[in-house]
Amino acid sequence: MQSKKPVKIKELTYRYCKEDPHSQVLNSIELEVSKGELIILTGASGSGKTTLLTLMGGLRTGAKGYLEILGKNIVSANRMELVELRKQIGFIFQSHNLLPYLTAQENIRVGLEVHKEWRRKEMSEIEERCFQLLELLELSHRGNFKPKDLSIGQKQRISIARAIANTPEIILADEPTASLDKDSARIVISLLKELAETKQCSVIIITHDNKILDYADRIIKLENGLII
Ligand SMILES: Nc1ncnc2c1ncn2[C@@H]1O[C@H](COP(=O)(O)OP(=O)(O)OP(=O)(O)O)[C@@H](O)[C@H]1O
Ligand SMILES: [Mg+2]
Repeated sequence: MQSKKPVKIKELTYRYCKEDPHSQVLNSIELEVSKGELIILTGASGSGKTTLLTLMGGLRTGAKGYLEILGKNIVSANRMELVELRKQIGFIFQSHNLLPYLTAQENIRVGLEVHKEWRRKEMSEIEERCFQLLELLELSHRGNFKPKDLSIGQKQRISIARAIANTPEIILADEPTASLDKDSARIVISLLKELAETKQCSVIIITHDNKILDYADRIIKLENGLII
């Protein structure tokens, strides 16, 4: 039975080196995130933001404490369980990780085709969803371009389209607007806000960008591995 909060974290600690107490990056983190909530995570460089986000997304293991994501404590989850979990999460990173030999539209399609329910659908339906996402991010005119022919901001928007293609229950974004100009940043952040409000996605965004703080339901600050 899935609990109501998609994210429940209690006394979570993390060290990069098990033997070295000085490598402790997260120190007894307590955090709950509700459905439909947009949280902004701030803090100085090196305060542990990315570490926390990658733990929440099942991209990193070895933490101690309680880390419940979508109803399951993943602290001791195995590799297969983490693979399954990651499919239910939309990741947006600063390095966009687009596949260079695929076009923008095909890169978005990859975001759908990892899901069984989308693989069963007609190609026309998949294509329609890709077009819709390209339009949402104001990139309809770039669907056939390969990543090398897109600007950094356009690549970032394509990676965002891929991450949200299947409307994941949780979206984790690490500096999603860092490479974007003001208008593109606004498109992206309003889209994430809309997903939170209309689809009840839980959105957690790491940012230093003061312009987007207004969109947050809650702002959380990390300092020396602690939420303050
Ligand atoms: N693979 C690693 N091995 C050892 N230490 C690491 C590793 N990755 C990160 N760290 C350390 O953990 C601390 C937290 O790093 P993290 O990347 O979570 O910070 P951050 O808050 O995301 O910073 P930034 O705003 O610069 O991205 C830093 O002191 C960093 O040097
Ligand atoms: Mg970081």
